[in-house]
Amino acid sequence: MGTYLEGKSIVVTGAGRGIGRAVALACAAEGASVVVADYGVGMAGEEPTSEVADAAVKEIEAAGGTAVAVADTVTTMEGGERIVRTAIEQFGRLDGVVCVAGILKERMLFNMSEDEWDSVVETHLKGTFTLFRHASAAMRRQQSGSLIGFTSGAFSGSVAQANYSAAKGGIVSLVRSAALGLHRYGVTANCIAPIARTRMSANVPQELAEMGDAEDVAPIVVYLLSDRARHITGQIYTAVGGKIAVWNQPREVRAMYKDGRWTPEEIEARLGSTVGQEEMPFLAELEARRAAAASGEKPNA
Ligand SMILES: NC(=O)c1ccc[n+]([C@@H]2O[C@H](COP(=O)([O-])OP(=O)(O)OC[C@H]3O[C@@H](n4cnc5c(N)ncnc54)[C@H](O)[C@@H]3O)[C@@H](O)[C@H]2O)c1
Repeated sequence: MGTYLEGKSIVVTGAGRGIGRAVALACAAEGASVVVADYGVGMAGEEPTSEVADAAVKEIEAAGGTAVAVADTVTTMEGGERIVRTAIEQFGRLDGVVCVAGILKERMLFNMSEDEWDSVVETHLKGTFTLFRHASAAMRRQQSGSLIGFTSGAFSGSVAQANYSAAKGGIVSLVRSAALGLHRYGVTANCIAPIARTRMSANVPQELAEMGDAEDVAPIVVYLLSDRARHITGQIYTAVGGKIAVWNQPREVRAMYKDGRWTPEEIEARLGSTVGQEEMPFLAELEARRAAAASGEKPNA
């Protein structure tokens, strides 16, 4: 057993499977007491069972760690509150919340149903809010804590996952807002954009150019939860295999001005040569993939 997170009380949602499970095991292996929160649902959020969270807790205990299971959904305020309360009641405090729970329902935007939109946004975005909301109140009182959201490279756009992409973009903005709003209380908020072999990534139609294991994602999460990372907030880190990368912060890159209001004609005449537009690298990749698919190859992402 390590001591990197000794004495800490950490909540991990989606901790029964995939990346969440790896994060929960790694936190416990570093001495944290862990709330394993997992609704135990199928890929699309169906058929909940408490067996999934219970199994991860048994694994942690078998390895000599401390954990408690909560087989609740993150999609309700009550669920989020119960998960947070469990950490405080069982372990006396709350040092970190890692929101990993997620589902996937792929569909082209023009075919997407209201339920496909709502359920995905509810699980990822609201499911991060319900935890952050209750955790941040406790952390504010405590004057310390780490909030970690799970986004995806897909937050910058996705062909057949407008629901997922929008939810993941929302998580980035939620994390940034948490970082700003809680800075004065000693609470940090960061995002992980992982890629790892799990049942979720196995379901994505393209072959992913970068790949790794769920266990490769855990160390950066453990670091961000530790006392050594109190100075890091408002960041997005990609974690895949042996690669860790930081994303840029959104900002304006070019501007044009006039005294007073622009007309559409003036914009037409000036925009291209001044402000222009920023490259959308994914569009070029998409064209390459389409060409590869047309020639019968399995496309890369
Ligand atoms: N695997 C990848 O390559 C990849 C890439 C980008 C982003 N992500 C993100 O990482 C996270 C983990 O993904 P994964 O691949 O480990 O997925 P996974 O399907 O293996 O695990 C997700 C877990 O979340 C749980 N869950 C789903 N809905 C829930 C709810 N309402 N309440 C509580 N628990 C719920 C499920 O029961 C499951 O155990 C997700 O947020 C996913 O979007 C994964």
